Amino acid sequence: MKDSEFEFIRTLVYERSRILLDDRKRELVTARLGKRMRVNQVDSMGDYCHLLRSPEQEEERVQLIDAISTNHTFFFRELAHFDLVRDHIIPEMAARASAEGWTRFDAWSAACSSGEEAYSLAMTLASRLDGGGWPWQVEATDISHRVLAAAQRAIYKEGAVTPHTPEWAMTGFQRGFGPQLGHYRVKTAMRDRVNFRQLNLLEASPPFSSPLQLIFCRNVMIYFDRQTQEELIARLTSHLVPGGYLIVGHSEGLSGVRHQLQLVQPSVYRLPPAR
Ligand SMILES: C[S@@+](CC[C@H](N)C(=O)[O-])C[C@H]1O[C@@H](n2cnc3c(N)ncnc32)[C@H](O)[C@@H]1O
Repeated sequence: MKDSEFEFIRTLVYERSRILLDDRKRELVTARLGKRMRVNQVDSMGDYCHLLRSPEQEEERVQLIDAISTNHTFFFRELAHFDLVRDHIIPEMAARASAEGWTRFDAWSAACSSGEEAYSLAMTLASRLDGGGWPWQVEATDISHRVLAAAQRAIYKEGAVTPHTPEWAMTGFQRGFGPQLGHYRVKTAMRDRVNFRQLNLLEASPPFSSPLQLIFCRNVMIYFDRQTQEELIARLTSHLVPGGYLIVGHSEGLSGVRHQLQLVQPSVYRLPPAR
């Protein structure tokens, strides 16, 4: 890929998603865009860039972001976060619910990729709240249409499910048999509690208005520069109830990022409760 082509792709991707592509990503970008070139039947990167410039090619610019974004995820990734939600955050929020007038426990998996994180959250909330009279719901958003389609299918290979899913959560899956052997489907009862929607975290407000008790925004900030991280944290914070929790990836502390949250433990933050 020529310097000018990489620069064009890098700028377009940054403008649309704020994902930062440094020079080390050049090979990765070339490989991922190879597929898009084949789909569009263009022979050179120059022609593909030309196509992306065309006003009629909005759909291809969406596909570009889909192709560039890294969607790696699995069920109960960073298991300690789900243990914390189950053992501390849910009981604490449940104890405060009636005094605060919270009629529902609302959680958000922001940058949910293909759904594993959102369903893991649903299974965690179900394990503590089902049958207890306090309704709950999970909102789940991602910029990529491709991963959201997979999330809605809710069918996963064994390798994404079994290595980290605790025994108590396996009841949330149906095991495939026959041609579906080696696959698991998330049960309807869980699927019905998760709303998947497309959202660029830096561009628009989420399509839900009630403030949330819990936000997971994990393993996406690493792709953003400091200024974008600050903007994102401010946006997420504005959707938390007082005392609500924001959980980021284990490798993504907020050091150097200005914010108004309290550090609870590494990667776990909380909006100070109202006095
Ligand atoms: C590595 S995955 C993380 C998935 C999950 N949160 C986890 O920790 O396993 C990062 C996700 O962030 C999404 N993403 C990247 N930029 C985004 C943006 N500006 N708005 C919303 N989602 C974005 C990607 O599409 C991708 O699915």
